[in-house]
Amino acid sequence: MNMQTWNPNSWRELPILQQPNYPDQESLKSVEAQLKSAPPLVFAEETRSLFKQLEDVCEGRAFLLQGGDCAESFSDFNAANIRDTFKTILQMAVVLTYGGKCPVVKIARMAGQYAKPRSADLETIDGVSLPSYRGDIVNNFEFTEQARIPDPQRLMTAYHHSAATLNLLRAFAQGGLADLHQVNRWNMGFVAANPQKEKYQQLADKIQDALEFMEVCGINSTIAPSLKETDLYTSHEALLLGYEEALTRRDHLSGDWYDCSAHFVWIGERTRQLDHAHIEFFKGIKNPIGVKVGPGMDPDDLIRLIDALNPDNIPGRLTLITRMGADILPEKLPALVRKVQQEGRKVIWSSDPMHGNTEKASSGYKTRSFDNIMREISQFFAVHKAEGSYAGGVHLEMTGQHVTECTGGAYGLSDDDLAQRYKTQCDPRLNADQVLELGFLVADLLKDARK
Ligand code: TRP
Ligand code: MN
Repeated sequence: MNMQTWNPNSWRELPILQQPNYPDQESLKSVEAQLKSAPPLVFAEETRSLFKQLEDVCEGRAFLLQGGDCAESFSDFNAANIRDTFKTILQMAVVLTYGGKCPVVKIARMAGQYAKPRSADLETIDGVSLPSYRGDIVNNFEFTEQARIPDPQRLMTAYHHSAATLNLLRAFAQGGLADLHQVNRWNMGFVAANPQKEKYQQLADKIQDALEFMEVCGINSTIAPSLKETDLYTSHEALLLGYEEALTRRDHLSGDWYDCSAHFVWIGERTRQLDHAHIEFFKGIKNPIGVKVGPGMDPDDLIRLIDALNPDNIPGRLTLITRMGADILPEKLPALVRKVQQEGRKVIWSSDPMHGNTEKASSGYKTRSFDNIMREISQFFAVHKAEGSYAGGVHLEMTGQHVTECTGGAYGLSDDDLAQRYKTQCDPRLNADQVLELGFLVADLLKDARK
């Protein structure tokens, strides 16, 4: 790409998929202009520090944990939800850090994860066809004609919700809730009988013990602030390029362009065509970025994609988020990994074990089974072990709320239980008990991989 001709708006000349059809173009233009002059949500300096941490992941010195809702929603926007998802991330992070003996880079799918790609432009119910729901940043989930009209004002609402979410996350990360002394407060389990609770309590006790010992030796949070703080970064699928463009700013220090809507943005499986708009936009921003890679990817195409997005082969710049499905992964992933290794491309391999394992339960709900999710992660680690590459992270759809959306787990949620608290407007999420269980299992894999 020619950096001389790249601009935050140069994607506009190229074909683009998955964008809403706004009937009111004037209003769209005016909202985009407002966003352009609004303060950035994140700062280039923060994004650069994430980049450094991801370089550690790429070189095998740290592990990436990325997680949050499939889609955030305006109606679930409140402090308790944000706090609980945050705690769930911390809880899994501390299990991985302690069990895997490895620093964990934490990225939330929060504060901007509002736009959804859809398989069809129209949704039909009982013979009535309306525009598909594309996430709260575009239209309303309710199945009425009025609700489904794409409304540009929603871009502004999403921006403000993201700002308020980030504000709280920053406060939590730096202001006490993330303090390792609070490890007992992160226990989000709802099921009293969950066997992981006991295990977590033991881990918490050991950490408390270690902290007390260090305290006696004169090491406390005053002289070692990293004991009481963490860095939590934000991310979302950068789908609506008008919104992303409006929040893209030139950093005065470096002169580089950063997409300041989040620290990390990714391109979905459906919009990563080499000659299309999304790739063009991502080429010019300096953020660390991700791209989803499904089972249909060809090894040579993958190299072309990598070279388009990371031509200078900078470690930490590009995360390949593989989403294969537990059954297909052993067949498809090895060839991709081998090719990338052979060609010497530096990427982070992260596993999204959610999207390839979605199924319809007999009850009619869209669900995912804990066993398939875990099976995909185990196979992901096994392939990287066999190929001599590094299994660098996981990407989860999860919530701190007590939902019943994914089946399985230690206390055996069945198809029939799904109806109890099935709340997602989009894909089924792991609940806090399931995330904790997954945390212990992944910690064992991580420890083994780093031996
Ligand atoms: N600052 C370190 C880190 O973020 C240690 C730490 C503090 C931590 N609070 C945490 C680790 C919460 C995991 C979870 O890794
Ligand atoms: Mn999803």
